[in-house]
Amino acid sequence: MTDSLRILMCAPDHYDVDYVINPWMEGNIHKSSTERAVTQWNQLHQILKDRAIVDLVEPQKGWPDMVFTANAGLVLGNIAIISRFFHKERQGEEPYFKEWFLDQGFTVYELPKDLPFEGAGDALLDREGRWLWAGYGFRSELDSHPYLAKWLDIEVISLRLIDERFYHLDTCFCPLSGGYLLYYPPAFDSYSNRMIEMRVPVEKRIIVQEPDAVNFACNAVNINSTIVMNKISESLKQDLTRVGFEVVETPLSEFLKAGGAAKCLTLRVTEPVLENVHANTEIETRVIRMEGHLLDAGVLSTALDLVVENGGSFRVLNFNLGIERQSISAAEVRVSAPSAEIMAEIMSELIDLGAVPPPQEACDINTEVVSQAGVAPDDFYVSTIYPTEVRVDCEWVQVDNQRMDGVIVVETKDGQRKASCKILRDLQVGERVMVGVQGIRTIKQTDSREQRSTTQEFTFMGAGVSSERRVELVVEQIAWELRQIRDQGGKVVVTAGPVVIHTGGGQHLTRLIKEGYVHALLGGNAIAVHDIEQSLMGTSLGVDMQRGVPVRGGHRHHLKIINLIRRYGSIAKAVEEGVLTKGVMYECVKNNIPFSLAGSIRDDGPLPDTEMDLVKAQTEYARLIKGADMILMLSSMLHSIGVGNMTPAGVKMVCVDINPAVVTKLSDRGSVESVGVVTDVGLFLSLLLQQLEKLTNPYAVTGF
Ligand code: ARG
Repeated sequence: MTDSLRILMCAPDHYDVDYVINPWMEGNIHKSSTERAVTQWNQLHQILKDRAIVDLVEPQKGWPDMVFTANAGLVLGNIAIISRFFHKERQGEEPYFKEWFLDQGFTVYELPKDLPFEGAGDALLDREGRWLWAGYGFRSELDSHPYLAKWLDIEVISLRLIDERFYHLDTCFCPLSGGYLLYYPPAFDSYSNRMIEMRVPVEKRIIVQEPDAVNFACNAVNINSTIVMNKISESLKQDLTRVGFEVVETPLSEFLKAGGAAKCLTLRVTEPVLENVHANTEIETRVIRMEGHLLDAGVLSTALDLVVENGGSFRVLNFNLGIERQSISAAEVRVSAPSAEIMAEIMSELIDLGAVPPPQEACDINTEVVSQAGVAPDDFYVSTIYPTEVRVDCEWVQVDNQRMDGVIVVETKDGQRKASCKILRDLQVGERVMVGVQGIRTIKQTDSREQRSTTQEFTFMGAGVSSERRVELVVEQIAWELRQIRDQGGKVVVTAGPVVIHTGGGQHLTRLIKEGYVHALLGGNAIAVHDIEQSLMGTSLGVDMQRGVPVRGGHRHHLKIINLIRRYGSIAKAVEEGVLTKGVMYECVKNNIPFSLAGSIRDDGPLPDTEMDLVKAQTEYARLIKGADMILMLSSMLHSIGVGNMTPAGVKMVCVDINPAVVTKLSDRGSVESVGVVTDVGLFLSLLLQQLEKLTNPYAVTGF
């Protein structure tokens, strides 16, 4: 018997399954046998009495789970931190446990109200006394951990539980003497598993398989080299004996029905304090502020969900609900994360949602200097499409050249503060780049109820989702906007793939250009080749556009075209010489509409106009996109996605593709300005022209 070791237990006089607060209790209400429970408890009590001093706290009627003394609190030295139960079903146990600790002369600490922490059920000391493992995710709140670190002056390692069957840390994790650890890894998220693996060398980790885990194998009482537990498998027993432990099995089936076993039924109340161990917790907290249609648009729940999904925790400090339909709400939320690394991840996602730090917190921005041309410092902030502001010398500065996947470069010149987005490859040695997530905010307007209803994806010809009328409505709206932009001298950029020509849309695009609706055209080699093929030979990739059938020898057509244009030196030259007299490219040349043809992987060309240096082509694209009010993306996945990345928020994007995946990818910019239309692009263009026609002459019968 170890004289110095004391364990607290509580006899099962009033034990029963009276309610359901964990998955094990489900279906077990009043199904446990009192007689068997008493026998099992007595057996455990006896086993422990032979090895330690067992103290008893008096059971209380009406508090059936009080047998699980592991949840009384957490003890280290002469300090006891009393539990704050998550469920009201157990909160009544708190005063009885508190009284016991006070009677025994412990210094008692209590957590703030509403900050759940369930004692040694969720906090396990490393058996060498080096640190405290603390669980969160179901019963205990991450924010309780810094209190444990402070009051017990010990390092706390936070582990996130993700399987509700293992709702307390001690149901799936058992530190053993000699630095061994018995645990069930799938009960933890990947970050926690990494933490465990960093602290416990592989030869000391004893992994429990699911069949043993669900028999509460990890819920064991370890006294020196003895482990007392419910019945376990032969192989696990061998794993434990091989490294020198003696396993004592004792049946605890009646307590399993309430979701507990050996360890839950005990609390070690003698835990020596080590001299050289001190507080340390990696937990980080930040306060963020959000404004907008937080409830209406679901932004707040998205934000809170992402905090939790990433392994963090939150507390809403303030919430000001906008009462009217059009009024906005504001919230202040304290976010906690188990480490700086996770906090950075959470914060960058929150920034994308429009969260900002409270004013006083973000004065000094974090920047690092570029030391290798074209390479950013490790921790650089990756820009988004949303208008962004950064803190430079304690002032918010608007970022120029906003784009996605860029780096924010800041400079102070002649007292002027500047910030702008740059792409990685353009970075120069000595430039200052934003790193981390502090001092950065994005101005993201949350859509109102009305705006949101127009941002959906419209499917035409897609399985049963849309009615023709709905697509018509969307096209009608696009037509109206095109007209507005044209009449107000705005800019529309079109990116188009060869499918536009193959589907018979060439004639419509030609008209759009001719009538002044298009101000720049972006595409690859193919759109131009097939457009010219159609203009000169009546086919697109060898298919007769009138009859829709392949013509004999048609596969040679596009080569003839490429060769022809190469002979003239450029598309413009062919127009000038009177060789090319109609079509999309012809109209571009005639109307001075700039176009950029970005590369080709096929070796049948390229046209002399095609820019085969992709870096140059990208720069040209970016130049042509600048100042656009609307971008029409017509069936060109590659070019459209490329363009989408270069385009800041606020530019209306209309993406038309027969493939819903392309449309979703592009229209999922989380803002009002993108519309996706899943349909045949030829059909779309035809409808669009009909609508434009209607706007010009509402009573005319159109020829389409
Ligand atoms: N029915 C109890 C509850 O759900 C069981 C507690 C088990 N205790 C433990 N340390 N895991 O709270």
